[in-house]
Amino acid sequence: MPKNRWSDPDHALGYLGRADKIPHRGEGEAMLVSLLPARTDRVLDLGCGDGRLLALVKAARPEARGVALDSSPTMLGAARSRFAGDESVEVLDHDLDQALGDLGTFDAVVSSFAIHHLDDARKRSLAGEVKGLLRRGGAFLNLEHVASPSESLHHQFLAALSIDPQDDDPSNRLAPVELQLSWLRDLGYNDVDCLWKWREMALLAAVA
Ligand SMILES: C[S@@+](CC[C@H](N)C(=O)[O-])C[C@H]1O[C@@H](n2cnc3c(N)ncnc32)[C@H](O)[C@@H]1O
Repeated sequence: MPKNRWSDPDHALGYLGRADKIPHRGEGEAMLVSLLPARTDRVLDLGCGDGRLLALVKAARPEARGVALDSSPTMLGAARSRFAGDESVEVLDHDLDQALGDLGTFDAVVSSFAIHHLDDARKRSLAGEVKGLLRRGGAFLNLEHVASPSESLHHQFLAALSIDPQDDDPSNRLAPVELQLSWLRDLGYNDVDCLWKWREMALLAAVA
């Protein structure tokens, strides 16, 4: 099983240092924000990192209360400093390999570039747990790192991000878009689609 490197502070800080330079991510984030339900009083961010996505969500829905989950001490520290003094956001230490448990009901569950660190069985069961936490009509919006259909396309993606194939993140467990959409449909979500994509970055959207 590939090693999850996110508990290593150097790995987490290395990502945060280049997060703004990932090409096209702003387009995917903007699309995700545009799909938030008009009424978003409560939102959950899975694998929140330093809270970047939740901050974008809150800029669009300032009234929303947020719960942000991550398991990396470095990321939890960064998210807690970002939201310091903001009582509308709760940052919780949670390993997504473990069941989400009873976190209450949400209007939207969002995630960016995090769930691909779980194995496929857990990705699928997590999507089922998310459905159980969403109100009817609530949205699951997952901006995700997905598998390329070929080795050549994968290498082109790495090249576009200036990543040497030898430095490919061993924590990644990439799954194809179509497979992930089929899980969401099988779980009973509505309006399941990939609503934005650039190479291995895809917005998987579904309504509970
Ligand atoms: C590529 S970063 C993305 C962070 C943030 N969502 C963003 O878009 O900038 C991946 C995040 O997933 C988190 N992560 C990886 N495996 C995890 C797990 N098993 N449980 C909780 N968080 C995890 C990492 O700690 C890291 O914050």
